[in-house]
Amino acid sequence: MELITWTNDFSVGVTEIDNQHQKLVKMINELHQAMKKGKGNSYVENIIKQLIDYSIYHFETEEKYFDKFNYPESKSHKEIHKKFINDISVFKDDFENNKIMLTLDVLNFLSNWLREHILGVDMDYSDFLIDNGLK
Ligand SMILES: [Fe+2]
Repeated sequence: MELITWTNDFSVGVTEIDNQHQKLVKMINELHQAMKKGKGNSYVENIIKQLIDYSIYHFETEEKYFDKFNYPESKSHKEIHKKFINDISVFKDDFENNKIMLTLDVLNFLSNWLREHILGVDMDYSDFLIDNGLK
């Protein structure tokens, strides 16, 4: 079973962003699979790195539109992105230094974060971006 399943509830109504969110969902499920199958550390490390890189890329996409259209919640939303990248980078370093393992707790943190982020603050910009012509 997938740890996190994409449903239409997750759609912010902008295809580019929905596609990126789907990719993040997929990557978290890949991590979950890797953990369940007991894949080696280098394999897991690689997916974590990809997840960080893709998150950065995705946040840049959202923030590009915030800047372009002067989104009023831009500052606080950017702070949330920054904190997530910081948290997951700390996790990556700890994992690489064998301080922690990839556990269901970590995976639940990632999947809950993504779910709550999309359904919460991301959904808040949906109408704003659509009103500015995105689809
Ligand atoms: Fe976001």
